[in-house]
Amino acid sequence: MDRTGEHALLYVRACLILALWVLPVAQLSAAEEVATKEQQGKPRKILFDTDPGGDDVFALLLLQSLARQGYAEIVAVTTVGGNVGSRQTFSNASSILALGGFENVEVGRSATVDPPRADAAHIHGSDGVGNLSRSLPAPPRRFGEARSAADIIVEKLRAQPGEITLVAVGPLTNLAAAEEQHPGILSRAKEVVIMGGAFRRKGNITSQSEFNIHCDPEAAQTVFSSSDNVVVLPLDVTMRITFTGEHAEAVRKAASNREIADFIVKLTDFMIQTTKSYRETEGVAGFHVHDAATLAYLFYPETLLLRRGEVRVETEGKWTRGKTVMDERHGAKTKANAWVALRVDGSVLLSILTEDLKLLCGAK
Ligand code: BDR
Ligand code: CA
Repeated sequence: MDRTGEHALLYVRACLILALWVLPVAQLSAAEEVATKEQQGKPRKILFDTDPGGDDVFALLLLQSLARQGYAEIVAVTTVGGNVGSRQTFSNASSILALGGFENVEVGRSATVDPPRADAAHIHGSDGVGNLSRSLPAPPRRFGEARSAADIIVEKLRAQPGEITLVAVGPLTNLAAAEEQHPGILSRAKEVVIMGGAFRRKGNITSQSEFNIHCDPEAAQTVFSSSDNVVVLPLDVTMRITFTGEHAEAVRKAASNREIADFIVKLTDFMIQTTKSYRETEGVAGFHVHDAATLAYLFYPETLLLRRGEVRVETEGKWTRGKTVMDERHGAKTKANAWVALRVDGSVLLSILTEDLKLLCGAK
């Protein structure tokens, strides 16, 4: 797409987002119509990079539901060490795809297999999936035989430039490795959509940094330098999306596929228990489904409000390493490189997620 096309697209998106939040109800329906028409077209091609991780699992299940409904096509799933080590995230992603009936999707292994710089097993369980991995289908793919995430990202984006949306919900190590392997490759994605960062609120690893960025700040900086169009779903919105036991029970009640539904209920219980001690949910018994926000942006954009600006990552500060910084000052945004979500309609997003999970579980 040439620059004029790109600008027209940015303009349409800005108008749509503005219209959804600012215009009166009668005009909202026109904007919603545009979004609906987009969905009625061809399924959106998604390459999903993840470190499952309890909330990653919910995003992966949502993605499979969207694919079943004909809205998404899963081009590949690539895995990275993060919440737990890279072998485990690979097995988890393979098992979750098998659980949802998408075992034929290729799963890539982490571009680097160093021990993670941090992990979050204290939240997600030592196996990353609430210590429930034994109850899941055996992973149909082997880590040793899998292709590297970076190779898959490069291959897919070269083969279909401008067609594939790259969604990343873990540390950005694989995306940076792909960019280093093939400079300019990330700009061939239709969009790069990431869960990460914290702008107007504190971090969840240090007071300044969010987990995904904290794990590999240099990789994150590479991604923000690679494109002028990164879409960011930070803690500012994801900590407003709290999935509860009631949501999980609603899925179980409607389900005809008990295997997925029972797993959802048990994983929810586990995540609620571990989240409790961190006091992040404002007294609500629930946990944040951070990573699902990326798919909400793509498929239900009416739930989010985004702001455009220049985003960079602090890679050197003694106390601020991993902090994401946005220049929001007024003036020509000549260096703007990102769209950052700052507001979300959390209860609508959760209802949508619950309904889509029901559909995956065979609800009529
Ligand atoms: C992010 O960190 C991980 O623990 C979650 O899976 C999510 O991607 C939230 O900070
Ligand atoms: Ca994650």
